[in-house]
Amino acid sequence: MFSSTILSFYLSWIQACTFGWFGPVCKYKCRCTADSCDLDGVCTGTSRCKPGWFGPACQYADVAYRTNSIPEAIDGNDNTCISSLKEEYIVIELNGSYIFTWLRILLSQAGFLATLQVKYLTKASIMECINGSSFNVDNLTIDIVCHIPMQIFGVNITGEGLKYLCSVYISGGRNLALREKARQTSVYSELINNVRFNFTADKAVDSRPNGRLHQGTGCAHTLQSSSMSEKWCVTFSQPRRINRYVIYNRLGGTCNCVFVCLLNK
Ligand SMILES: *[C@@H]1O[C@H](CO)[C@@H](O)[C@H](O)[C@H]1NC(C)=O
Ligand SMILES: *[C@@H]1O[C@H](CO)[C@@H](O)[C@H](O)[C@H]1NC(C)=O
Ligand SMILES: *[C@@H]1O[C@H](CO)[C@@H](O)[C@H](O)[C@H]1NC(C)=O
Ligand SMILES: *[C@@H]1O[C@H](CO)[C@@H](O)[C@H](O)[C@H]1NC(C)=O
Ligand SMILES: *[C@@H]1O[C@H](CO)[C@@H](O)[C@H](O)[C@H]1NC(C)=O
Repeated sequence: MFSSTILSFYLSWIQACTFGWFGPVCKYKCRCTADSCDLDGVCTGTSRCKPGWFGPACQYADVAYRTNSIPEAIDGNDNTCISSLKEEYIVIELNGSYIFTWLRILLSQAGFLATLQVKYLTKASIMECINGSSFNVDNLTIDIVCHIPMQIFGVNITGEGLKYLCSVYISGGRNLALREKARQTSVYSELINNVRFNFTADKAVDSRPNGRLHQGTGCAHTLQSSSMSEKWCVTFSQPRRINRYVIYNRLGGTCNCVFVCLLNK
């Protein structure tokens, strides 16, 4: 009885999710190469996290990816490691300023995770973590969590383990808007090759950032208005902590946007 319940649960799960999505209500996007995820989003076969993604089920955006640093550490590839270290530290400068939540460091040699120390570069100063915590994922991988009261534009890592450094990933969070309930005040539509395309609100949370409006699949679009009266809004199915917004606009357009929709129950 119990096992058949689980089985039917899994079967409905398999049937319900379209290719490239997973999770009990299919709200997680597979972030593995070739979209090769198992039912939990874990990469199968030889696939691995897509470039720029890392962490549990590859769900976290890596804001260190291909930024200004030692290439082996920020190429998203755990198999490329530092060959020689020029300084006693490495500095990873990010492309912008971010609210820090956590990072992951991967070494090629066990026994050195405890030697690593991270400092955080903010506009005002270099900060140490006063109240953080760290977790050894395995004997080569450590996750470091810290609350930094201001945005950081980089990290400075020291410690003997650095000479075995393979990867540093810095979390830019995961996309909480995916397939959540989106609404907008009006819907622009257009005849494209005799098909009427409706640029509905959900097209902005479907993980298809195709900026070519006239291909009809990638964008939400309200009617035009000269005032700021048109609105687009997403409602989360549970309370969330938001650290950043990323907006992909249509190509050849400008988004004259302001954020007003931050509702607390
Ligand atoms: C940072 O900028 C470089 C150079 O423009 C780019 O290749 C890289 O993808 C960017 N990385 C992130 C995480 O934005
Ligand atoms: C690290 O973990 C691997 C795999 O779990 C194990 O084979 C290895 O012996 C460990 N190394 C050390 C030094 O603990
Ligand atoms: C450190 O974190 C703990 C647990 O989150 C909290 O109880 C404590 O007040 C924090 N201390 C400081 C100095 O922020
Ligand atoms: C990084 O940390 C090292 C060791 O504390 C220090 O010598 C170096 O100046 C720091 N560099 C930056 C850019 O913070
Ligand atoms: C767009 O909306 C119109 C009117 O509601 C409808 O007839 C049409 O089928 C819709 N187009 C698509 C592609 O769903």
